[in-house]
Amino acid sequence: MTPSILITGAGRGLGPCLVHCYLEAGFTVFAGTRQPSPNLVEQRKGSPERLFEISLDVTSGQSLKTAVTEVGAIVTSLDVLVNNAAILPEAGRGALADLAIDVGLQVYDVNALGPLRVTQAFLPLLEKSQRRLIVNISSEAGSIGNCWRKDEFLYCMSKSALNMQTMILKNLLSPRGFELLAIHPGWLRTDMGGPNADLDPKEAAEGIFLLTTQPRQSGSEIHRPSREAHAVVRSDKIRLIPGGTWHNFERFSSCMSSLLTPAGFDLEARYRCGNRA
Ligand SMILES: NC(=O)c1ccc[n+]([C@@H]2O[C@H](COP(=O)([O-])OP(=O)(O)OC[C@H]3O[C@@H](n4cnc5c(N)ncnc54)[C@H](OP(=O)(O)O)[C@@H]3O)[C@@H](O)[C@H]2O)c1
Repeated sequence: MTPSILITGAGRGLGPCLVHCYLEAGFTVFAGTRQPSPNLVEQRKGSPERLFEISLDVTSGQSLKTAVTEVGAIVTSLDVLVNNAAILPEAGRGALADLAIDVGLQVYDVNALGPLRVTQAFLPLLEKSQRRLIVNISSEAGSIGNCWRKDEFLYCMSKSALNMQTMILKNLLSPRGFELLAIHPGWLRTDMGGPNADLDPKEAAEGIFLLTTQPRQSGSEIHRPSREAHAVVRSDKIRLIPGGTWHNFERFSSCMSSLLTPAGFDLEARYRCGNRA
């Protein structure tokens, strides 16, 4: 039986890039979208028997119920869940004096409650798999230890809530054989990240794919190629090796530390002076 994965927010940005990586690796992929996505048309042509686009709005219990039924009719278990859908509305980004605080209700609903709803709904199917991996796509914006912003309250607060959710789920589900990951994908050239961002979302998707498909106890190495750094995972250790500027690496390693250490990794950062900018 091929491994299976559900990715939310799969129609735009990082989502279709993740779909591509897992399809290429032979997964059966459930791509959750709110409306049929033109970005998945080519992929569907390539692997029609393993790509299922399912209607999924993370704010709607009814939508999730239908999605669970649809997925459950195709597979008897689900190996990996990637909670990727999120929003960053322009109206909720401003400085405190002009901030439309009520926009935060929508941001929190999608970015923090959305992943919890999806995890709750799909838990029975995940529990039937041996892999039992839940990945929450978080952000350095949600890191309290590494907070440097003076605005963007709503998005940052929603991602901090997501990180807390990941920790509580880890406490609850690790004893039942689950693995929980909160991953910062980098600053991405998507609708959310804008055209001046550091990374192509394809590059980030490849890094996430590698982090999530290597067995953690294997002793093997994972290289996460990116402009910011390589992450080398050895058993439960992640070693970060700078690949970009010193400034970026410091930020990157600090973010990875605050996000991945709580998710169960023992992080070891190693600086290579030769790579200073
Ligand atoms: N971009 C960055 O620089 C960056 C940095 C750090 C973390 N992240 C995180 O990375 C993930 C992907 O971001 P991205 O850059 O790919 O964002 P994006 O280009 O804005 O795409 C967001 C996706 O989420 C979906 N979505 C929004 N509301 C939804 C809902 N209620 N139900 C289901 N799907 C919904 C969108 O679907 P529609 O097409 O239907 O709207 C879209 O597919 C997010 O979790 C984001 O917070 C991004």
